This record gives sequence, C-alpha cells and structure tokens, in this order.
Amino acid sequence: MRAYWQDVLKSIYGISAELTRLNGEYDLNFFAKGDDGKNHILKVMHVGCDVQLVDMQCKALHQIKKFAPGFPAPFLVPIPDGRGYASMPDAAGVMRHIWVMTALDGVSYADFKPHSLSLIEFLGRQIGLLDKALEQFAHPYLERDFKWNLTKAGWIRPKITVLTNPGRKAMVSEVISDFEALEPELAALPKHAIHNDINDYNILVRGSLTGMHEVSGLIDLGDMVTAPRVCEIAIAGAYVVLDHEEPENALAALVAGYHSVHPISAAEIDMIYPLLRMRLAVSVVNSTLMAEQTPDDPYVTISQAPAWRFLEGQKIDAGLMRARLRCACGFPVTDAAPRIHAFLNAERGNFAPIMGEDLADAPMGSLSVAASTTPRNPFDLSPQEAALVGQEFEDQGRIWLGYYAEPRLIYTADVFRKGPWKASNRRTVHIAVDAFAPAGRSLHAPMEATVAVVENRNMHLDYGGVVILSHKTPDGDIFYTLYGHLDPEVTTTLKIGQTLKKGEAFCKLGTPAQNGGWSPHVHFQLALTTDGMGDDWPGVADPDELYLWQELCPNPAALLNIPDAKTAYQPVEMETVLEKRRVHFGGNLKLSYENPVMFLRGWRHHLFDEMGRPYLDAYNNVPHVGHAHPRIQAVAADQLKRMNSNTRYLHPAQTEFADKVLSKMPDHLSICFFVNSGSEANELALRLARAHSGGKDMITPDHGYHGNTTGAIDLSAYKFNKPGGVGQQDWVHLVEVADDYRGRFRRDDPDRAGKYAALVDDALDEIAARGGKLAGFIAETFPSVGGQIIPPKGYLAKVYSKIRAAGGVCIADEVQTGLGRLGDYYYAIEQQCAKPDIIVLGKPIGNGHPIGVVVTTAEIARSFSNGIEYFSTFGGSTLSCRTGKEVLDIVDDEGLQENARLMGGRLLDGLRSLQKKHNLIGDVRGFGLFVGVELVQDRESLAPATDAADYVLNRMREHRVLIGTEGPHDNILKIRPPLTIEEGDVDMILEKLSGCLSELECFSPC
Ligand SMILES: Cc1ncc(COP(=O)(O)O)c(C=O)c1O
Repeated sequence: MRAYWQDVLKSIYGISAELTRLNGEYDLNFFAKGDDGKNHILKVMHVGCDVQLVDMQCKALHQIKKFAPGFPAPFLVPIPDGRGYASMPDAAGVMRHIWVMTALDGVSYADFKPHSLSLIEFLGRQIGLLDKALEQFAHPYLERDFKWNLTKAGWIRPKITVLTNPGRKAMVSEVISDFEALEPELAALPKHAIHNDINDYNILVRGSLTGMHEVSGLIDLGDMVTAPRVCEIAIAGAYVVLDHEEPENALAALVAGYHSVHPISAAEIDMIYPLLRMRLAVSVVNSTLMAEQTPDDPYVTISQAPAWRFLEGQKIDAGLMRARLRCACGFPVTDAAPRIHAFLNAERGNFAPIMGEDLADAPMGSLSVAASTTPRNPFDLSPQEAALVGQEFEDQGRIWLGYYAEPRLIYTADVFRKGPWKASNRRTVHIAVDAFAPAGRSLHAPMEATVAVVENRNMHLDYGGVVILSHKTPDGDIFYTLYGHLDPEVTTTLKIGQTLKKGEAFCKLGTPAQNGGWSPHVHFQLALTTDGMGDDWPGVADPDELYLWQELCPNPAALLNIPDAKTAYQPVEMETVLEKRRVHFGGNLKLSYENPVMFLRGWRHHLFDEMGRPYLDAYNNVPHVGHAHPRIQAVAADQLKRMNSNTRYLHPAQTEFADKVLSKMPDHLSICFFVNSGSEANELALRLARAHSGGKDMITPDHGYHGNTTGAIDLSAYKFNKPGGVGQQDWVHLVEVADDYRGRFRRDDPDRAGKYAALVDDALDEIAARGGKLAGFIAETFPSVGGQIIPPKGYLAKVYSKIRAAGGVCIADEVQTGLGRLGDYYYAIEQQCAKPDIIVLGKPIGNGHPIGVVVTTAEIARSFSNGIEYFSTFGGSTLSCRTGKEVLDIVDDEGLQENARLMGGRLLDGLRSLQKKHNLIGDVRGFGLFVGVELVQDRESLAPATDAADYVLNRMREHRVLIGTEGPHDNILKIRPPLTIEEGDVDMILEKLSGCLSELECFSPC
C-alpha cells in the first residue's frame, strides 16, 4: 500500500519520497521524506469522505496564508491543474480524495515538556492570529451538523444516562446546566470559522536549549465549524489545563495570549470556563458512548482519565476563574469594580474611623521579608514570635499600621504552602492592612453595613473572631470588608444580616489567646466581590498571582481615610539593585542565572527572595552548617558585644580555635595560621613552601582554582588559561588533572592512579630543564571547578612522594572538600591516603564569616619564621576565632558529617538511578554532599552536553533549586548543599532534575 501511494505522490505531484504511516483516526496519513530533503504530508481521505471536507481544508489553508502569512500552517501543494486535491482510485480500485501539504517541524504539544506559562501564552497568541485570519472565511461545510460543535453540545444531556457512576452523572449534569444557562448569550455572539480542535496533538512545538520554546504549527483543520471564538479558546483551554501543575494560571496565560492579538470582551471571557468544562463533558460522554460500542478497547477509558481527573479533582471555583481571566486580560475584576473604586476614592476622608481615631499620622511598621527577621525560622513561626509580631513598633499602645501587598515570612502554616516540598511555592503577600493596637480596642463600621459573616476561627494562627461586612454604594454596588483577629465575643453580639450604622462600634481586638495567637491587631481587608471566595478569603496571596488578588482585594486605604501610597508596600526592586550594580561594579563581577535572583533571608539549606519565595540551596558550601544558624548568630553577637581585636593580643579564643582545628588534623600538622580567605591562605601556603624549600617553581593540576590574589591566580589554571587570563607563569608547571572519567587514563585501567601520578615526573624534568628549583605541589584534593573530580584512590599519596623526593612541599587545598562534607571522610586527603605538609581551609569554616586557615608542620613554620613579622589584621580576629570554632563544634554536635554521608548516599543512589533512565548523564561521582553529574551528548564520544547543563541549571532554578555547573566544558552539574539538607530536599532535587532531563529529551529532533 505504501509503495502504491509513493508512486501516486511521484506521478501526480512529482515528489519522490519515502513514506511513513502516521496516526489518524479515519484517514491514511503519510509522512513523505523527500529525496530532495523537503518533507510533506500526504493525506488519503477515508473511503466515502465528503469532498467538501477536503475542499474546506484546502481553501482554509489558502485563507490562512493570505491573511496570516507568517502563521505556522502548512502550505498546500496544488496538483498540476491548480486544484488543491485529486480524486483517484486506491490500489483496491476504491475512489479516494488525496491532497498534499508541506510538513512542519516540531513535536506535538502532548509529547513536549515543559508546558510553561510562556509557551501557553505563545499558543494563545497563535490561536488568536489563526482566528483573525479565519474571520472572513466561509464554506458550506462549516455549517454541517457536527457533534464537536460546542454551540450544539447540548446533545449530551439525554446521553448522560450512559454514565453509571451517580457522582459523575450528577457532576456532568451540573456542567450541562451551566452550559444551558449560557446558551442564549452564546447564541447572540458573532460566529465565524474556527479551527475547533486545538488539541495537544494538533499543536506542534519547537523547543531549543538556549532559546524560547515556540508553537511551530497548528494543524488539522478537519473539525472546522462556524462558532463564536470563545468556543475556540475553551476547546484549546480544555487541553491546556489537563494535568497541568497550575491549571488556572495556564488557562489565564492562554486567554491573555489570545486577547493580546485578537482582543475579546469581558463578557466573552466570562463564558470561557463553563464552555471549557462543557467541552470536557462532551469528551467523556462521547468516549463513554464509544466504549459501549467497543467494550474491549481499553484506550477509550484511558483517554478519558485526564478529563475526569480535571472535572472531578480540580477544585477550581468558576467565579474565581472568571475573575482571574478578566485580570489576566487587563479587565476590571467585575463590571462594578471601577464604580466601587470611584466611590471609595470620592469618599476617602469621609468614612468613619474604624479604629475610632484619625490614622493620617499613624506610623507604619514593616514586617516584610526585607525589613523583619521574624520568624527566625521562616518555616515555623513559634507561638512566642506570633504573639510578639511587630513588637519593635510598639509605642505605649499607639496605633501603628502594617503594609498592604507586603511579602512576609510569618505565614508558615501548611495551608500557605502550594506543593509537597519545603521549597514549594507559598503564599506570602499580605493583601490587607493591619492596624496594631492593644487588645480590647473597639472597631467601628466605616460606613453603613450589613453583617455577612461572624465567626470564631479558633485554630492557632487563624483569625479568632472574624467579621465580614457588606456595604452598598449609592449606585447599588456591593463590596465587602473583613476584620480578623477579634475578640470572639463578637459571635454573641453580632448576628448575620444585622445592619450597622456608619461609625457604630461592633467588635473589639482580641488578645493573643483569643485571636489565633497573634499580637493584638486587626487584619482589615477589602474585597470587591466574594464570588469565588465565599466566607473564607485568603488574607495572603502567592506573589506570582498578585495580578488577580490585588484586583479582587485592593488596598483598603481609602476606607481608612488615608492615601493608598501610605499603606502600599514599596518592594525592594530587583531591577533597581541590578541597575545600580551595573553602574557601580565591574563587568566581570558575575551574577548567577540569565535572570538573576535576589535573596534576602536564609535558613539552614533554604534561601528566600524578596517576595518570600523559598529556594532549596543545593549549591552553596559556605553556609556549611546552614544559613542563619542560631549558634553562629549568638556567638558573633556575643563577641561583638565584648570586643574584637587581632592576634597581637592574647585571647583564649585564638588557641581554642587552633586546638579545635588541630584536633581534626593528622598529628604531624601542629601549627595554624589564621587569615581571611581561601585566597589569602593559599598565598601564604605558597610563601611557606618557598621559604621551606628555597625553591620557586610549583606544580599543579590543570583547571585548578586556588583564589583571586596574584599568587593564587598564578596557581589557578582555571583562571589564567581562560581567554583574557594572565597566562601561565614560567615557574608554574601543569599536570593533567586525574580525571578517570574523561582523562587519558580511565576507570578500566587499574594502574591509573600511578599513571596520573607519573605525569609529575615530566613537570619535574621541565623544572630541571629551565634551571628552576621546586617549591612544591598544590592541588584541590578533589578538584571542584575542574568538574567535581574524584581522583583515583592513592593518586595524591603517589604524587606527594615524588614531590618530597624532589625537595618540594605538598599543599592540599581542602577549601571545598573539608570539614565533613564528604560524609565518609572529614578531609579528602583521608580518601587519598595522603599526608600533605600544608592544608588550606577556607569558605565553610566561617559559615559566611571570612576566615581562612593554613595548617602546617612545626618544621615548615620554623623555616618561615625568619625574623620578619607575620601579621594579618583580621586573620585570627577574636570574632573570627569564636565563629570558626563554633562552626566546627556545630558539625560535631549536630552530626553533620554523618548527615552528609546519609543524605549524600541517598542523593548519589538517586542520581545513579536517573543515569539508568537518561543517556544524557554520563557520570555520577562524589562523596557525601560533594557531587558531580557529568552530562554528555553520547556516552561513547563523551562529547560534553554544555548547553544541556546550562538548561538544567536555569530550569532547576525555576523549580526553586539552586545548583551549579562546572568543569572545563561547563557540563558538570555541581551539587554541594549545606550539610543540613534533609531527605525531602534530596528527593526534591532528584524529582526536579529528572523532570528537566525528560524535558531535554523533547528537544532532540524526532
Ligand atoms: C578550592 C578553592 N581554593 C581557594 C579558593 C579561594 O577562596 P576565597 O574565594 O575565599 O578567597 C576557592 C574559592 O572558590 C576554592 O574553591
């Protein structure tokens, strides 16, 4: 059969091509891979196909090319007489209509990941363009009777008896009722030709590692009908929301995209969600009917599952969805909203004071992420903290106000979290104004009101007593105000339906024991509608959904008789900081991520941005014992209260720190030098080596990094060898890094440690040849910037013996690897069975406070002590010594090395499982929480997958996980979290990474 159609393609269209059968419900569809490199689709319509169906599609393609020339629709290839299709017998002699069009590239939306909001918005724009192009298109076949015409979807009403599950039947019946209520309005809308079947197999998507993902085609016009364009949006929306993590935002993105190119009215927008549900109802009823006819076909039931999941599982309020779609398109949240705003503005200054006094001069107090350090643990506001929130603004009972639209970290209960992980999205932004005053203070109605809700919500951190009042404007529009954290006595004094006069006192502020545990205040919130919120208004919103919540619950300042600007929180604008940074700092001060991130708070292994969004920090090794560790805070504050000076004066903290450092060192290392950084420490180590050996020349592995000072840079091939680098000094001799995954000796070579070590002989020869003298050898014990390399066991021990034999000093840079990070080892030298002469420590030892340490032998220290004073002003400061010792004590006291072993094991096991599923992972290596995942294009050539690594880095950040990339080709994912990381966090890394790797598989051509 294929050969037959191949011949037809050649004889009629002159196209020589290899045919491959494509899926198709009724027709024979072929992908024609042309000998000339051009690809086409050959459509052989089903037997008995109405020629009008083909004619309609061919003409529609013409129309689209004419009115939307850039639109990604295929080109129709006409037959020689100019017609769009031919009619001819198939191999069995039966008449068939055939037509050919150009093939578009891309994968189907169904097979593509991620379904990002930006891609969905793009899709919305394309659908808008398509509908615009089809507006004037007419064809008799558009008017056929068709079960998928959404305007006629009522046909399913008598068929719902096919649904045997009573719950499902009732639910679908409700969907139909909503649709029926809409029918007159729908019938009144203008109709034009629409695609009518933008399902996820009719959308083609082109992804790229570095660019934007875009819709590369909308195909299959076979279901076209005339209908209002809202049907088009609702149908596409019905596919877009299915199994989407954020269905509401997905639909909003689609509609906003459409509206941006083909504006729709608010009335049309209001119909979209009920129509979407109706389309899904048609799908499930239709497929249940089909299942009756083909009971043995499991596919019918399987294909229904996502629609049922959405219809039954998603608790999406239709009213809220309507509001959301309106806001996404820039419409007022309700038709009454502009009138209510006008009323509030006009009346500002005339409302009765709700606190019983003028608030014009009331001070503002910020509880924002930026301003406040409450709660200390942003995952768990303690009852004590809740009861004292804002205590710093307390001024003898004077009223002070809390900001509207302020991001805060005090909302730590599970109800605020929107996902399973600690770093999942959470609601942080306060969409009300607070007025803090002593408990017992009376509140007054700002204007005439009717009591809509009065309750005692007595759960911890809830409202306690709460009242919602409804108000009517002179135009008859209703709006609402909410008063939370009240004395629950209000439930006995107020009745629902009761009216209140303007200025009437109606409730009192509760004590912490009565008001949900908070320091006494009223949460005062305005809502322009309660449609979709009912009685249970969220008082705090997701920072990424403010486009909706700020419209529904705007700033209530007018009702307080004060300007909006007074209560409106002014966020720390990332853009401003970024711009200033550009002006004031050098261009080579690099920022992480294409779209930088700004962090204002941290806790253990999480960071929080300016809007309070949590991120899992799986990258930063400096906060070794965790961000904002209470013991570090306490010790630093305590020492700063006392004094802070240098090593020219005696202080027990200096020797206590030295004792602690040395307690973890091999016995032969007994002398400590304290400095401020890893760079300074390596600089000093170089001087020690030179002083002791009398030589100048150093040997070091390629791609190493030892710091940013002149000497340290000269020892850092990772920097000096980069374009623009200072280049290699004549006293520096590089050896190949002992990378047994990619380097010249691989894991299948049992002698690789010795072979890599032997490369040092060449370097020694080089020194001799230039008449130099060896000072020593420096290496990161496990090279980190070189790609989280784990050299073969024993490599360093072998190198060291060669260096010592040549009179050199062996320096181990343990800045990245020390202090228990490796789990099995406190230092990486233990794994290497190596005994260095100098160990260099930095970064994690101060947990953020700048400390570096050089530890060496008494003999080397003596060689250095040549009469010239050694002094580092801040190295060994009292503050540094106490901080450094505290860090080391915490590692011991909290069992963090053991945690690194356990969590590292879980992480490495999980990564190795991912490696089995994803060819992109060439290697997984590491110990404890020092982990590298090398991405390769193929496992034979090991061609580095640099762009893929960059993609993963940025996507992980979008998933709120911070990791890094490293290695000479930047293709190694670097995972190096604080040692406090927990099981759930490790699982989050694995799940998100797995998702990113699956996404990457969609981008390869298929
Ligand atoms: C292995 C190693 N040594 C030394 C340094 C330099 O430390 P610092 O930046 O604190 O000067 C670094 C910094 O990244 C490092 O990774």
